[in-house]
Amino acid sequence: MNIKRKRILSGMRPTGNLHLGHLVGALNNWTGLQDKYDCFFMVADWHALMSEYEKPSNIKKNSFEIVKDWISCGIDPRRSVIFVQSMIPEHLELAMVFGLLTPLGWLERCPTYKEQLREIKGRTLATFGFLGYPVLQAADIALYNAAVVPVGKDQLHHLELAREIIRRFHGLYKKKIFVEPEPMLAKASRLVGLDNRKMSKSYGNFISLVDTPEVVKKKVFSMYTDPNRVSADVPGNVEGNPVFIYHDLFNPDKAEVDDLKIRYKAGKVGDVEVKEKLTKALNDYLDPIREKRASLSDADVEEIIKEGSGKAKKVAHETMGKVRECLHQIVN
Ligand code: TRP
Repeated sequence: MNIKRKRILSGMRPTGNLHLGHLVGALNNWTGLQDKYDCFFMVADWHALMSEYEKPSNIKKNSFEIVKDWISCGIDPRRSVIFVQSMIPEHLELAMVFGLLTPLGWLERCPTYKEQLREIKGRTLATFGFLGYPVLQAADIALYNAAVVPVGKDQLHHLELAREIIRRFHGLYKKKIFVEPEPMLAKASRLVGLDNRKMSKSYGNFISLVDTPEVVKKKVFSMYTDPNRVSADVPGNVEGNPVFIYHDLFNPDKAEVDDLKIRYKAGKVGDVEVKEKLTKALNDYLDPIREKRASLSDADVEEIIKEGSGKAKKVAHETMGKVRECLHQIVN
């Protein structure tokens, strides 16, 4: 391993199988970073529990599933450290320390917190733990001295909070032990869903990485297209049309896509042909991911998580030693 490489850390909450939106918005970016950075990828199961604590029964299964999804999409456990947050207790220790010095106002003002309280119904989220979501996230990043954190736009405020918490720590204890992390935004960010809203698990408008070819076909045929095109001979719009956005992203046959666009705009192609070709492109895209996934056993994944968590633990332990020194605690 090249020690001069910058460290990257990112994480996802294990809340269910990943979909194409995760692939386009995050995962495809992560896989490309492995050549240039020292990458740590974390299953944020404590963060998932902050909203799922009333019904935690899927957390373990989802943690295995998300690691399978990562690896089948190209995250390479030989090059990157894949680990589970809760297997490294130092996350909670550092979150406690950061919690000591984070003013309540910073957290209460956080836009994601206010939005989630408003939007997510049927759960009690006005808790101490949930308010502290960004504090734990800051600890995740600082623990590994990550210089760069690939995130979506919605996480930028959390990154800014992490930087402020780190600065406050440095100011109070007069010792710079952490790196101030920079966010890295993915080039392509959010993917449109089947119904023309943002692709999201809670909207049920996604294509999952574990969908079978038949399910993919059914979903593609249910897709939103140009609402003004009432029949195949009416000229249609390709811009902002989800079916063509997907063709552009997932169909490698550019000549075919161009031909479909020209005919669509001229009212010379039916939705069925456009969608059949998209189904094929998506299934061709997903096939190698499906294959890789099928080749991974639970035992393989368990081993990968154990090994990754062992590596992460070493770094985390070392950082906590420095933190405890700053706090005049007995270092163990
Ligand atoms: N909050 C992130 C999300 O929901 C997940 C996460 C937890 C994370 N800890 C992190 C992302 C540390 C980057 C760095 O997407």
